[in-house]
This record gives sequence, structure tokens and C-alpha cells, in this order.
Amino acid sequence: MNLEVKIAGVTFKNPIILASGCCGFGQEYDKFYPMEALGGLSLKGLTPNERQGNPPPRVAETPSGMLNSVGLQNPGIDAFLERELPNLAGRDTVKIANAAGATVEEYAYMAQRLDASPIDMIEANISCPNVKQGGAAFGTDCSMAAQVVTAMRKNTTKPLMVKLSPNVTDIVSIAKSVEDAGADAISLINTLLGMRIDISTRRPVLHQNVGGLSGPAVFPIALRMVWQVAGAVKIPVVGLGGIAKWQDVIEMMIAGAKAVQIGAALFGDPFTPVKILEGIQQWMEQKGISDINDIIGSVQPY
Ligand SMILES: Cc1cc2nc3c(=O)[nH]c(=O)nc-3n(C[C@H](O)[C@H](O)[C@H](O)COP(=O)(O)O)c2cc1C
Repeated sequence: MNLEVKIAGVTFKNPIILASGCCGFGQEYDKFYPMEALGGLSLKGLTPNERQGNPPPRVAETPSGMLNSVGLQNPGIDAFLERELPNLAGRDTVKIANAAGATVEEYAYMAQRLDASPIDMIEANISCPNVKQGGAAFGTDCSMAAQVVTAMRKNTTKPLMVKLSPNVTDIVSIAKSVEDAGADAISLINTLLGMRIDISTRRPVLHQNVGGLSGPAVFPIALRMVWQVAGAVKIPVVGLGGIAKWQDVIEMMIAGAKAVQIGAALFGDPFTPVKILEGIQQWMEQKGISDINDIIGSVQPY
């Protein structure tokens, strides 16, 4: 049975990747099962300098999901390269660095630093606010999204995956812009902007007032966007958003995803990825499917 998938020249032993921000730098889940069980890890989002993130409360439960406003807390690129990445040396799983910036120049800098590292792939998180242009997220505008990708592309020959924000009217136009600007792959979705209010205090539940919604509540939106984007671009698409069980992965792949990422579900059950892998293999056996690649994009739309 073949579970191997290839994305932008990188071989993943199976299509299950842990999502950025939900698996740290890989060490926590390694206590539960070896990271070699996974196709890959998308590591915590990195910025040029260390960030403490936003003040608490910065996570909240919601029906079938969660809100977060962690705010890209991370040790910064120097500390990552010196202290964190060496811990992953020799570990047989695809290591993806998730990079963010507040300006186009910062994204370019991140690409340059990561290019010189042993990381297998770069994932650009373009859901961050552009501080030089009024704070709109790079990923909500075709031209800003393309500028980030062009600047990163100039500075790296590593496979470059661009992670799209779902907080847009037309996801396909953003996807096409990043493809034209030189992205090797697209991942989607990042979190959807949401809010809760505590009715007793009349204060928002999160200190930032608003935050990103993830978990099973967002799955149908993610699936719809993956299907739309996979049908519109030539580069491979990695699907995420709300995946919690093996059936979700099969659905995402039938919609056109070459691989998937698992985020919020890990917080409820860290074993979700290994359970999903078992479920997929049993399903393939039952259905007589010998190669997972055969189901990718096999949806029969009305
Ligand atoms: C606590 C938390 C932190 C996150 N941090 C990042 C991050 O650093 N970079 C990034 O690209 N996405 C980040 N995300 C978004 C996830 O990677 C993922 O795109 C999103 O949560 C949807 O997938 P899910 O429903 O499986 O969680 C974070 C999500 C959560 C819940």
C-alpha cells in the first residue's frame, strides 16, 4: 500500500503533516509517538526577532472549535536555527519552517536565513498584518500576497509553500497570484477571524477582542476553499482546517489536496494523527485502493 506523496520535489512518507502553531518544534508530540510516524511537521511560526505574543486570555473554546490570539509567540529565527532546528537533525520526517513578517523585507529576510539552513521546505504564513500598509493582512490582497512571494522567491531555492488566509472574498484570485509569483505549493486554510463575548462582564473573551477560529467548525469552509483552489492552480495544494478524523483526510484529498495538516485536533487528542493513519489504511484496504495518490482530486462534482 502506498501512502507516499510528493510535493514540490519533497517526498512525504504519508500525507499527514502537523500544522504550524499546534506542534511547537516537534518535541512535545515526540513523547507520545516518534515523529517518524508523520509525513511532516510544520513548525511554529517564526519571525526575524523573538516575540512574546499577545497577553492572555488568548485561547477560548467554541462549539466544535477554538479561538486563538497567540500572536506568533516564538524565539526568533536566530534562536530557532541555533537551539531548535539541531534537535530535529537526522529525524526522518519532512521539516517545514513556517515564516512570517510585518513587512515584505522581513519575509525576504526570513527566506534568506532559512535558505542557508537544513530545513526541507518553507511555508510562508501570509495572514500577518502589513505594518507599512495600514495593517491589512498580506494574504487578503492579490498584489501584497504576490509581493511577499516574489521577495521570498528571490532569496531561496528551497521549496516554497504559501499558506493562504481564508478571510477573503475570492480565495482563487489570491491562490493564482501566489502561483504566478513563484510559489511551489499552496497550503490552506489559516484561521477564520472570530469573536466571543462574556455576557456577564460584557468583555470579549480574548484580550485581543478577536481571534482565529479553528477546529471541526471550520472544516466545510476549508474543504470548499481547497476544492476551489485545487481546481484553479497547477501547483500542489495542502489542505487543512478542522481535520479531526480519517474521513476528513479522505474528503480533503478527494477534493484535491495532495496532503493535509492537522492543528487544533491535536489539543484534544495528541494521538489524532496516528489514529487517522490507521483509519486511512483500513479504508484503503477495504476499498482495494493501493495508492493514496489515486484518490487525489477524484471528486465528481454535480
Ligand atoms: C494555537 C494556534 C497557533 C497557531 N499558530 C500558527 C502559526 O504560528 N503559523 C501559522 O501559519 N498558522 C498557525 N495556526 C493556524 C493553524 O496552523 C491552522 O492553519 C488552523 O488552526 C486551521 O487548522 P485546524 O482547524 O486543524 O487547527 C495556529 C493555530 C492555533 C490553534
